[in-house]
Amino acid sequence: MGALPHEDFLQCLSLCSNDSSTISSVIYTRNNPSYSTVLESTIRNLRFNSTNTPKPLVIVTPSRTSHFQATIYCSRKHGLQIRTRSGGHDYEGLSYVAKVPFVVVDLVNFRSVDVDVENRVAWVQAGAILGEVYYRIAEKSRTLSFAGGVFHSIGVGGYISGGGFGLLFRKYGTGGDNVIDAQFIDVNGRILDRKSMGEDLFWAIRGGGGGSFGIVLAWKLKLVPVPATVTVFSVSRTLEQNATQLILRWQEIAHQLPDEMNPDVSMFSVNSTQDGRKTILASFSSLFLGTIDELLPIMQQRFPELGLSRQDCSEMSWIESVLYFNQLQNQPLEILLNRTFRTPVGGQYYKIKSDYVKEPISETALNGLFSRLSDEEASSAIIIFMAYGGIMDRIPEDATPFPHRAGNLYKIYYNVNWQEQDNVNSQKYIDWSRRVYNYMTPFVSKSPREAYANYRDLDIGSNNVGITSYTQASVWGRKYFKNNFDRLVQVKTKIDPENFFKHEQSIPPLH
Ligand code: FDA
Repeated sequence: MGALPHEDFLQCLSLCSNDSSTISSVIYTRNNPSYSTVLESTIRNLRFNSTNTPKPLVIVTPSRTSHFQATIYCSRKHGLQIRTRSGGHDYEGLSYVAKVPFVVVDLVNFRSVDVDVENRVAWVQAGAILGEVYYRIAEKSRTLSFAGGVFHSIGVGGYISGGGFGLLFRKYGTGGDNVIDAQFIDVNGRILDRKSMGEDLFWAIRGGGGGSFGIVLAWKLKLVPVPATVTVFSVSRTLEQNATQLILRWQEIAHQLPDEMNPDVSMFSVNSTQDGRKTILASFSSLFLGTIDELLPIMQQRFPELGLSRQDCSEMSWIESVLYFNQLQNQPLEILLNRTFRTPVGGQYYKIKSDYVKEPISETALNGLFSRLSDEEASSAIIIFMAYGGIMDRIPEDATPFPHRAGNLYKIYYNVNWQEQDNVNSQKYIDWSRRVYNYMTPFVSKSPREAYANYRDLDIGSNNVGITSYTQASVWGRKYFKNNFDRLVQVKTKIDPENFFKHEQSIPPLH
């Protein structure tokens, strides 16, 4: 009987690595007692942590670039697929689940953050989490930051690869808009920077979706100024407290609010305090890059109906606002360094979808959405409208692969989540999210119905397991990337013509 594919693979790794003693310490086979701990360490969506979930044959946690080179070489040689994982937040688990024999390359040991305050840049290895980036910047300056995401445990590798939006995106754009160089390894093991990879590939990796082109080792980030004092607020209203009219008004004005804000409104079902029946609670919140005194007149002029008062607002430093939006107020800043910490926000078993809205939706449409939010399956669901506008209206659609720019009023984030004991019934929750998505069809963007690549959703289409066809990939590709999809395909055809780096929603090469 021949050796198992991963035994040949392991032998290849030790043969082709010129430092086999160090590589052996970063390899985890299923016989290794730490295998499960390493695998599960950053599985965020516990839906993909069941006994039925396909597991990697081997996990490699490179500590040197030669380990990446050896892993890519040996995986190709022995017909194993690679799944690259930075922070493990992929909503469909594609960084650690595959239906074919595969190896996980986990960048947990590639996470240095080197901040240069004077030049307002930072070199960040792709395995760092956003919390590490924020923390290391704040150590040196409280008035600089990065256009990162809200949740501190997201990996920088996947975040920027899929675009990346967060608290500062209406002021400074996406994460990908704020990258000025990168270190990248291609299918042939070549280590490339911006100059040697060329502008097409450098464009593609800043938003064209993770796992398609090669492995990003590090990003050089542009740091952006933030004031020493920022303000946060959150105001909640039930349907009985006029929430519907407030949301209708919010739709009209939120995208026109100052770039210094990131207004959103979260909606979920709660028991009414009046009679114990269900109602919808709408929570209006935002960061404001300025003081309460500066914010209040703006809100009184633009959105008086909300009745924002001084008591609804808190002033803090920018880094403290990261804790606030992670619901980690009063925790030490060091919690941002904890990459295995499970955020209390958003649940642990979940299904996500996204939409873009170009025209305000009607009261009737909104009522239909509320009625679905009151379904039994939606008891832990949350729907968030996130305002667009600001600098997003001014950055051209093809500046990076992330195409959702001018013309959007807001993005919708649909999150249905459930508890461990109900994971056997996951299908009923997933079906609920599909029903809501179908219901929303007439009210959201069309031709294509746009979706955010980092909110990965395999329902909108996926590649064949075998041959990845352009036509099939266009179905989901145009939703994520609109016309930028064709340029991504061209880049892919050049950098990885044999389609080694692939998954269910990777960019296909042209054959
Ligand atoms: P993960 O490691 O799972 O990778 C995601 C994808 O990128 C996979 O296809 C993977 O193979 C690939 N990849 C990872 N590292 C790579 C590398 N070094 N080189 C090449 N490819 C690589 N988004 C957002 O924009 N703003 C937000 O506020 C949030 N909030 C949020 C909260 C929570 C709780 C979750 C679970 C997710 C989000 N997201 C988000 C979505 C998030 O940005 C998205 O899932 C990112 O892809 C996650 O990046 P990770 O590195 O953590 O994921």
